[in-house]
Amino acid sequence: MKTKIYGHRGSKGSYPENSMLAFKKAIDAGVDGMELDIHMTKDGELVVIHDATLDRTTTGIGYVKDHTLDQIKALSIGAKFTEFRHYDSSWDLEQVPTLAEALTLFKSHDLEVNIELKTYEVAYPGIEEKMLKIVKDSGYDPNKVVYSAFHLPTLLRIQLLDEQAKTAWLLEHQLPMPDDYLQMLNLEALHVDYKVVLKHPAQWQPIAHQLRIWTVNELHDMKALVDLGVKAIVTDHPEIATMRYSS
Ligand code: G3P
Ligand code: CA
Repeated sequence: MKTKIYGHRGSKGSYPENSMLAFKKAIDAGVDGMELDIHMTKDGELVVIHDATLDRTTTGIGYVKDHTLDQIKALSIGAKFTEFRHYDSSWDLEQVPTLAEALTLFKSHDLEVNIELKTYEVAYPGIEEKMLKIVKDSGYDPNKVVYSAFHLPTLLRIQLLDEQAKTAWLLEHQLPMPDDYLQMLNLEALHVDYKVVLKHPAQWQPIAHQLRIWTVNELHDMKALVDLGVKAIVTDHPEIATMRYSS
């Protein structure tokens, strides 16, 4: 099976991460799938943003959990990226997308989607249930959605709520006998830091078809992982990856 290319927070290397603009640029590049991160607002809405706080990527400050969706929608997520080569003042109008908005875009392009629940810093009670409802309401093909998290209990809660849901554990360290974890935790895949896999590729090769690897930005690393036969690579530079390895 051919290795798929996923845009990491869209086309993060060149456009404001987790913005509709970055997602559209990754789609233009021809990605097979999209990776994004979600948090929950004060009023229980699920929004697409990487950090638990607004400070780094938006014109706001403080925690996502302490702001309503309306307050967050009033912020810019493009204005912080003026140093990017393609920066244009129109970026200042980019807003934090809701999960539902992002799914509507991806569905119209029949993309695979990897929703990462950012649950390792702030506990968001009920986030799994809300997320599953949003995905269901979107009409997304469940086979095209994979849920990932570093925080393993999040994945186990998702499995309890929906036994068909595909879950993937995020890892940034070596794991002995990874196939045992896949089987016993009923995981569809492991999402592993590229450095971990490329340090001991032979150890990961038997389960390569169950690995999505992040964040792969160098051509020689992409080649090594494609040669290993991994399921997907997640990259900040989808335009480079798809030019070489598009399916
Ligand atoms: O999903 C892989 C990768 O996105 C995990 O790390 O910090 O970029 O969300 P991070
Ligand atoms: Ca992520």
